[in-house]
Amino acid sequence: MKVLVLVAHPNFEGSRVNQRWAQELEAHENVTVHNLYQVYPDGAIDVAREQQLLLDHDRIVLQFPLYWYSTPSLLKKWQDDVLQYGFAYGSEGNKLNGKDFVVAISTGGPAEAYQAGGYNQYTLSELLRPLQATANLIGARYLPIFSFSGLMAVTDEQIEDSAKRYAAHILGEY
Ligand SMILES: Cc1cc2nc3c(=O)[nH]c(=O)nc-3n(C[C@H](O)[C@H](O)[C@H](O)COP(=O)(O)O)c2cc1C
Repeated sequence: MKVLVLVAHPNFEGSRVNQRWAQELEAHENVTVHNLYQVYPDGAIDVAREQQLLLDHDRIVLQFPLYWYSTPSLLKKWQDDVLQYGFAYGSEGNKLNGKDFVVAISTGGPAEAYQAGGYNQYTLSELLRPLQATANLIGARYLPIFSFSGLMAVTDEQIEDSAKRYAAHILGEY
């Protein structure tokens, strides 16, 4: 199984968790880590290159810090540009059928904030519905999300532990 990890972090150099996660996965065979903000600092996405990367891999991971309950803007642009009619959807747009689709996110807010009655009211699965619906539309298999919350208060040891759990989650059987 070949795994493509699309990392979308506007301030990757200043990241604690997403940088560590990317480093952990880079060490694995059959994993391609593709850092969108580093590859496209001007935001001009090479659509043909991105589509070829998708075709060449079996499991697609979207890894990002939660920004305003959603993806950072370049990852939204990536969806708009790359998931084209006739490629990802439409009567002949079946190129991503059967691929695995996994979302991996870090959040500043603590885990207990993401529940009914909590500070943010909604679960992460609820907030990520547009990505789940997109996976459904393109005929991909939506796997359980991986999340790590409370980044304002975590220790380096907890980040190390999350990196190991992240790799196990991303490379696991479903
Ligand atoms: C513009 C912006 C928006 C953010 N929005 C949210 C949010 O909606 N919910 C949340 O829990 N954290 C939010 N955060 C915090 C980030 O998710 C958090 O800093 C990040 O996950 C930490 O990961 P890192 O160590 O890889 O940078 C936001 C941060 C920024 C800069």
